[in-house]
Amino acid sequence: MSYYRIVGGRPLEGCLTVQGAKNSVLPILAATLLAPGQSIIRNCPDLSDVSAALDILSLLGCRVDRQGDTVLVDASVLHRWDIPERLMREMRSSVIFLGALLARMGAAELSYPGGCELGPRPIDLHLAALRALGADIREAQGCLCCRGGRGLRGRELCLSIPSVGATENAMLAACGCPGVTTIMGAAREPEIVDLQGFLHSMGAQVSGAGSSVVTVRGGLPLHPGDYGVMGDRIAAVTYLCAAGAAGGRVLTRGVNPECLKSVLSCLEEAGCTVETGPDWAAVECCQPLSGISPVRTAPYPGFPTDAQAILMAALAGGKGTTMFVENIFDNRYRHVDELRRMGADIQVSGRVAVVTGTGRLHGASVRSTDLRGGAALVVAALGAKGETQVSGLNHICRGYDGMERTLAALGADIQKIE
Ligand code: UD1
Repeated sequence: MSYYRIVGGRPLEGCLTVQGAKNSVLPILAATLLAPGQSIIRNCPDLSDVSAALDILSLLGCRVDRQGDTVLVDASVLHRWDIPERLMREMRSSVIFLGALLARMGAAELSYPGGCELGPRPIDLHLAALRALGADIREAQGCLCCRGGRGLRGRELCLSIPSVGATENAMLAACGCPGVTTIMGAAREPEIVDLQGFLHSMGAQVSGAGSSVVTVRGGLPLHPGDYGVMGDRIAAVTYLCAAGAAGGRVLTRGVNPECLKSVLSCLEEAGCTVETGPDWAAVECCQPLSGISPVRTAPYPGFPTDAQAILMAALAGGKGTTMFVENIFDNRYRHVDELRRMGADIQVSGRVAVVTGTGRLHGASVRSTDLRGGAALVVAALGAKGETQVSGLNHICRGYDGMERTLAALGADIQKIE
């Protein structure tokens, strides 16, 4: 069992170029299925979720090759449209292959994506959107059997919640539906704009990503795409919050600071100095973080649920009280018990968590319970007194490409022990 050994209290100093965005590259890899031929995906991070997506593409018949941070996916020949449960369980966002397979093959068969780490993660909106486009979807014994074929056609559909995954699934399926699809109530996350960018590189006619109405003119012949994935805004805020927890100054490059605004304003309110440029953001912290006004997670451009645990970890070692309200997922405070082992004072009641900074956390042996919860423990450890051991690195590897190397380059005392 591998773990991180972190000795906290060393200020972080330096610049880093942020890895490609996990939440962009996964739908983009699924989108490579839309056209025969070889797509080129640049700035592809080395993550276990990416490996899981590449395994699915290989199984479907694609030839997949990774050269450094460039991934080539040749989707000329697909010989199946089903994804076995083993691969579906490896990655929760595997459901995104549904829309792409439906568009390319007119059929898809897959099981429900694996268990829950953040509470229930239903896919009813994904299925309703695809059904609205004409797909026949039957559910039996945990298996989804989808047929589209000539029944698929573009039309207006409305998402009752701005779900990121359902918006992406609908966009991918709509590329294979003749006519115009209008997705009302679409999620506005930057990763959806990135997916639109990749679809443009394939010749698709998609517009409106980044607003709540996305339009796709589908049924057109597409060609392979060539695209550079945007920088990962959640990885960026992780390293910026680490500067808040440990002190020092960290500058992240490769992410538009507009995408970081809601988190940067919290760090500023907590006492950090924040500077931004066209594609960079820097956070400097010279004193313990202070408590801030309530942090409420919300769909973009609101405060991201993915940054909730990470900011909480930084504030737990500061001074003053902050209230968090988690509005997106039901069970996203699993990191709290682990932070308490490090001396954090956090009270949870339903969707609300109240964090009272204790001045400084102390080292402990803790375990990641999910991807961002794991990142939060690392952030807490960097500011804590003494040694922390963070296990459960399989969660962290799903979303961070060489986190220990990045932090060590900033001066952190961190080692991965195999
Ligand atoms: C994506 C991100 C994840 C992030 C989340 C919210 C990826 C790979 N993952 O997840 O990191 O935390 O957005 O920003 O991009 N919902 C339903 N029915 C559905 C779908 C969603 O009720 O069919 C609900 C969910 O339970 C949740 C809310 O909608 O309460 C938002 O979820 P959604 O935006 O779909 O999250 P994901 O796409 O799974």
